[in-house]
Amino acid sequence: MFSFGKKPQQDGVRLDPDRIPAHVAIIMDGNGRWAQQKHRPRVFGHREGMETVKRVTKYASQLGIKVLTLYAFSTENWKRPTGEVNYLMQLPVDFFDTFVPDLVKQNVRVQVMGYTQQLPEKTQKAVQDAIKATEKNDGMILNFALNYGSRAEIVSAVKKIALQVQAGQLSVDAIDERSVAQALMTAPLAQYSDPDLLIRTSGEERLSNFLLWQLAYSELVFTDALWPDFGAAELRAAIYAYQQRDRRFGGLKK
Ligand code: FPP
Repeated sequence: MFSFGKKPQQDGVRLDPDRIPAHVAIIMDGNGRWAQQKHRPRVFGHREGMETVKRVTKYASQLGIKVLTLYAFSTENWKRPTGEVNYLMQLPVDFFDTFVPDLVKQNVRVQVMGYTQQLPEKTQKAVQDAIKATEKNDGMILNFALNYGSRAEIVSAVKKIALQVQAGQLSVDAIDERSVAQALMTAPLAQYSDPDLLIRTSGEERLSNFLLWQLAYSELVFTDALWPDFGAAELRAAIYAYQQRDRRFGGLKK
């Protein structure tokens, strides 16, 4: 795996426009530490993290990325203090309140994956309104993982398939990778279901229950930058690292 520091040497690198990853997924980590470094409450970091989402969305769309999936809240994040959870539930409301007109201008379409029925009403409404307001856009998909967990997603997919078998719509022999992928929350992304590139910020190098099936052949890039400090240079550096990789998907070098 390739890692680079907060001040990447590849700043200002030349990217190959023909090899921009179609689907980029990001584990946005380090908001709390960023705030603590500034002697501010953790939620101050989340607020700044929201601003980073705006910048990165714009830049990713300009680069020609087709799908940007952002891990905004996991099924395990409910374990955090109530005040922080409440703040995180308000963020999508504030984000879409202020940013939907820009998303429309940028031709970005909002999608959400996760157990959204368990989110507070106001969060669900903000998300549904943003999906509706951007549904005609045919540019980049901004796909938020909200109350998402990969193991729960896989359990739900297994149940869905079991029900299809029980109903006689599918035979056990016909279950294959395609039918499993179809039952996952990324199915609406069609040919872009699997990320080409996964980025995790803040120096942590783990997947934290994110897209475990879909990341089977993704390139992983870890950066020390805390999410509020992540920007165009860091995104370019991650894509540059991706472009140096030789993706073999289990086969041999071309
Ligand atoms: C992890 O950092 C971050 C989160 C759990 C929340 C991520 C949310 C945002 C970046 C804002 C999302 C914006 C929208 C529009 C929904 P952490 O708090 O675990 O950081 P730490 O590891 O330093 O404590």
